[in-house]
Amino acid sequence: MARKIVVTSGKGGVGKTTLTANLGVQLAKRGYRVIVCDLDFGLNNIDVVLGVENLAVYDVVDAIEGRCRPRQALVRHPRYPTLCSLASRHLSDRYVSPQAIRLILDSLAPQFDFILIDSPAGIEEGFHRAVATAEEAIVVTTPHISAMRDADKVAGMLKNYKLSRVGLAVNMVRRDMVRRGEVLTPAEISAALRLPLIAVIPEEDGIFLQNLCERSRAFRLLAAFYAGGKVKLVDPVRGGGLFGAFRRG
Ligand SMILES: Nc1ncnc2c1ncn2[C@@H]1O[C@H](COP(=O)(O)OP(=O)(O)OP(=O)(O)O)[C@@H](O)[C@H]1O
Ligand SMILES: [Mg+2]
Repeated sequence: MARKIVVTSGKGGVGKTTLTANLGVQLAKRGYRVIVCDLDFGLNNIDVVLGVENLAVYDVVDAIEGRCRPRQALVRHPRYPTLCSLASRHLSDRYVSPQAIRLILDSLAPQFDFILIDSPAGIEEGFHRAVATAEEAIVVTTPHISAMRDADKVAGMLKNYKLSRVGLAVNMVRRDMVRRGEVLTPAEISAALRLPLIAVIPEEDGIFLQNLCERSRAFRLLAAFYAGGKVKLVDPVRGGGLFGAFRRG
């Protein structure tokens, strides 16, 4: 039965979609059967990040409203056969309840190992819909104050949901700034937000142009953790070109 993990942040543009897609790819590379589910109905783009935007015929709303079976709404990734994308599209004025989404995901869950849920920015209806569907959560922040403040709000709100595990991913970490003490370290951010740190993702220029960064050590380590391993983090300070990692916990 698939574990349902929502990726959330509060603030927009901090890397939720990037993390969801890349974690999905890395888990699929390990042979897990993964659905990457886009519940960002407003600015849905995970199909683009995965490069499958032209392959979707149906989306999750079609499945909810009975125009297709849930399985037919899945798009199998041409490169990673165990990775499926479940798209969403703009809802306009229609309302979709968390229960309706959960019904679809629950019907797919027995055939998969992970369902990763990409959520919209903000803490309104879309946030609730995504989080209420999940059993675990990853809160994404960057070392910027505004992102951390929103992550803190989100962490507080997540207490209202039945989640078995909430982890923190700190994205867009710049080694030079950490080294110079210009930003909090990921460990300090984790302590401030009182969330266990499960990923440190450096800011990378080139690789992220395509969004899928298949060689990224940070996402490989995160996948290894969700595969049942220990938390291992990219070192936020050392490691010039390639990343060094250190053990934790
Ligand atoms: N570690 C990183 N280094 C460099 N660029 C990154 C990194 N992570 C994400 N980006 C880039 O930042 C932008 C925002 O990322 P992304 O779309 O994943 O954020 P998001 O939280 O899903 O945004 P939204 O709230 O709008 O859905 C993208 O252009 C992405 O390629
Ligand atoms: Mg996004």
